[in-house]
Amino acid sequence: MAETLTITDNRTGKTYDVPINDGTIKALDLRQIKVTDDEFGMMTYDPAFMNTASCRSAITFIDGDQGILEYRGYPIEQLAEQSSYLEVAYLLLNGELPNQTQLAEWQHSVTHHTILNENFRKLIDSFRYNAHPMGRFIASLAALGTFYPESKNIFDAECRQKQIHRLIAKVTTIAAFNYRSTIGMPYAYPDNELSYAGNFLNMMYKMTEVKYTPNPVLERALDILFILHADHEQNCSTNAMRAVGSSQVDPYSAGAAAAAALYGPLHGGANEAVIRMLLEIGSVSAIPEFIKGVKGGEGRLMGFGHRVYKNYDPRAKLVKQVAYEVFEVTGKNPLIDIAVELERIALEDDYFIKRKLYPNVDFYSGLIYQAMRFPMEMFTVLFAIPRTSGWLAQWQEMLGDPDQKIARPRQIYTGAPRRDYVAIDQR
Ligand code: CMC
Repeated sequence: MAETLTITDNRTGKTYDVPINDGTIKALDLRQIKVTDDEFGMMTYDPAFMNTASCRSAITFIDGDQGILEYRGYPIEQLAEQSSYLEVAYLLLNGELPNQTQLAEWQHSVTHHTILNENFRKLIDSFRYNAHPMGRFIASLAALGTFYPESKNIFDAECRQKQIHRLIAKVTTIAAFNYRSTIGMPYAYPDNELSYAGNFLNMMYKMTEVKYTPNPVLERALDILFILHADHEQNCSTNAMRAVGSSQVDPYSAGAAAAAALYGPLHGGANEAVIRMLLEIGSVSAIPEFIKGVKGGEGRLMGFGHRVYKNYDPRAKLVKQVAYEVFEVTGKNPLIDIAVELERIALEDDYFIKRKLYPNVDFYSGLIYQAMRFPMEMFTVLFAIPRTSGWLAQWQEMLGDPDQKIARPRQIYTGAPRRDYVAIDQR
């Protein structure tokens, strides 16, 4: 028998049976609940989507209470250990792990789409020297779409695939070229013989050497971080990608909107905010005073807490491990001692225990980036590069979902009732 929910409207005494599917009821099924026939009907009020599923998705599974994260059913721990970022991107986009031929074709295609149109350099050169890398990244994504006017044909599967390959490839070049521009370094062009992460390091750090050889430990660490950041179901930026994409705009414009959402300090900006916080704390001995301040409402413990995880973020565990591997090569980032002690104290503190606040992915990632010589302002860009595959997988899924339409929430109007315009001399 189909599961239903019976609702009694105490205003009218009427009873309604609403179907339950997958533990949810359709908000539209509430519309029939009315006191009078000419009324609009019942809605739900859910600012910040605290308890609303905005889509059905087969991409990423999170169990926030148990700290589980899976991409297409594969545990994040196994992917981080055994897979590569490009393989994971393929998995997110296509639903299955690629076979050898598919992976080789995919890697070849992404690798051969990393070059930017030379005219794009003028755009990058036109930013002020101190422009924030995320501002540059957002603008660059939007601008990139202007080079591919055909990208608006979003229902042409072949054309859509081409843009997906381009975007995943070119975000690395956009990020690296913008970085080189800020420090006045000549652009380092992509090297097709290197891996995705290795080539990104090449475009970032190549000096005068003929061939850049990435350190394999750092290359692998970056690739793992890319895997861990690739998707995270309906987070703020993915929601932006879907919402903006639902207007049927091209994926570059929707991607720019998603990147803008990621820029905020409560989302992808948190990894930068963590380092600033650790620098501000300055020493292990200053931690108790800092925690006291947080509990007193003076700011938040950045890199802690999550809307979905009410347990240790599984990504944070993996990032912490990777941090120590990276420090073997780069030398220890001195801020790690403050971070570890901060975590220890916070996890024993009633305030954090009661609110189920645990380290999230951003708590340790910045320490790795810093040890790898990425400037702090670039940390969110390092999140945006791999999240591009998640955004595109979610965007593609949305386009093929017959339930979806242009995203357009309702509101509860709280303004003035209708009134007549008053001439300015009578106000
Ligand atoms: N430090 C101190 N208190 C906190 C923190 C924190 N980091 N996070 C939440 N709280 C408290 C908050 O004050 C509230 O307390 P009370 O019930 O007394 O008012 C309670 O915990 C619930 O917080 P909330 O703001 O209602 O929770 P939310 O689900 O709306 O926010 C969050 C989630 C991630 C925005 C928030 O935990 C936060 O601001 N964390 C710091 C920023 C951060 O690390 N963001 C990265 C998130 S993970 C990666 C990503 O998404 O990009």
